Amino acid sequence: MSTQNKRLHCTETSAPTNIVIFGATGDLTKRKLMPALVRMLDCGLVHPDSRIIGVVRDMDHGKWLQLVRDGLMEFSNGDGMDDQCWQTFAARLKIVPGDLDDETTYGRLAESLEQLGGMKNAMFYCAIPPGWYGKTVTGLNRAGLTAEDEGYRRIVIEKPFGMDLASARALNRELQAVIDESQIYRIDHYLGKESVQNLLVYRFANSIMEPLWNRNYIDNIQISVAETLGIEYRAKYYEHSGALRDMIQSHLMQLMTLVAMEPPVEFTANAVRDEKMKVLRALRRFRPQDVNTHSVAAQYASGHVNGDDVQAYVREDDVSPDSATETFAAVRFHIDNWRWQGVPFTLWTGKRLEKKASEVMIRFRKPPFNLFDNHASIPAANALVFRLQPDGGVVLRMNAKMPGLTTDIQRLVMRAPYANDATAVADAYEILMHDVLTGDSTLFSRADEVEESWEIVEPILSAWKGRFSIERYRAGTWDIPAMDTLTRDCVGGWHRPT
Ligand code: BG6
Repeated sequence: MSTQNKRLHCTETSAPTNIVIFGATGDLTKRKLMPALVRMLDCGLVHPDSRIIGVVRDMDHGKWLQLVRDGLMEFSNGDGMDDQCWQTFAARLKIVPGDLDDETTYGRLAESLEQLGGMKNAMFYCAIPPGWYGKTVTGLNRAGLTAEDEGYRRIVIEKPFGMDLASARALNRELQAVIDESQIYRIDHYLGKESVQNLLVYRFANSIMEPLWNRNYIDNIQISVAETLGIEYRAKYYEHSGALRDMIQSHLMQLMTLVAMEPPVEFTANAVRDEKMKVLRALRRFRPQDVNTHSVAAQYASGHVNGDDVQAYVREDDVSPDSATETFAAVRFHIDNWRWQGVPFTLWTGKRLEKKASEVMIRFRKPPFNLFDNHASIPAANALVFRLQPDGGVVLRMNAKMPGLTTDIQRLVMRAPYANDATAVADAYEILMHDVLTGDSTLFSRADEVEESWEIVEPILSAWKGRFSIERYRAGTWDIPAMDTLTRDCVGGWHRPT
């Protein structure tokens, strides 16, 4: 079926669905899920007969509606939230009161769905702390809500999926004991970003890429997410997580698999995920003695970010004053296969850095010698940068002749923005929820991928566990000398976003 909706180009409509949100008063629901659902309804990405059911503790219907409305005013950028629009949206909101650890909550939910009648399809969104995923899905199962007899039943699980290999495995086993893997949608919101999906289109819809995309032409690849924000209100989670778990094991390793994978035989969920999985399997495992030379951990000290004074990580609320949790992490990976042998992939991320930017930087080999009769040594190596955010696009760094009677070389930067019309770009949560509603799991992590990526970072987690001290960097800077050491043998060294 093909629909051209008002704002977003979309080729598949979804069936009427009960959209059940666990954690309906939480931050994710307020900031991301509700604004996305409003836009999706507006664009026809959610079937107009669908309902949104919040499982809510200690709150009546009126209070919840007010909370949702306040959240929309704050996080929807005013997108069409006039009174009429709100009334239409609010008419779809239902509430089921109850605690997640109370068995009767799931029974009440089943009764409500029955009473509301009609629709058999359900998407259950677990926007709840990770400790509750297993219990919630088991509760749904006991209440008969996961059986796909008459309609689909899909469960969305947020990140983090486990805190290490053992907990991720245990969670997979717990979920798979009661539901089928095909019903599980493990979200990594980076895969929902349009600019990230565009990486695949750049790679596989342009024939100039493939001949260059290998060890013969590429010297090194750096994949980065630099943030200016600190940890905000999330210290309790972040203190136990740190940047390695929070970003590298999930978002950045997922990006790496998209950059490094072989062309899939078809663009279907399992074909794509099989190729991503092969990359993970080919990643060289770290021996304990490799960890120091292949990783960097650092923590922000006080400084200035975007003109404001900001405090050190250890002064943030709920952070221990002697915390050694990393707010910056980098890992240098090697992929032992024919395409990538000898090409380091450096993945790095940090909070309170100088600029916000997420990039995939492909650095090509240097030209073999300088043909031109000038003083420059070998011209700088070309770089192709896929800018993922804040402003998506591609940047190609070339060498060009200086104007005038000379063959001196200057650097030329060619920029191609991804989308001129920002309103045509869908938010990651719109894309991912639409995929759940239409049953497309291509952009969701499979059980084996999650376990494999935990297994790969496990030696680093072990080496970093119980560390008493950590390097510091001044907030608002790139002042992390260990990064220059980590990328010392890479052409161009450490690539900071420009
Ligand atoms: C989340 C991390 O998954 O991604 C956060 O938990 C991080 O720490 C965020 O700030 C970054 O996402 P985005 O979309 O803002 O780049």
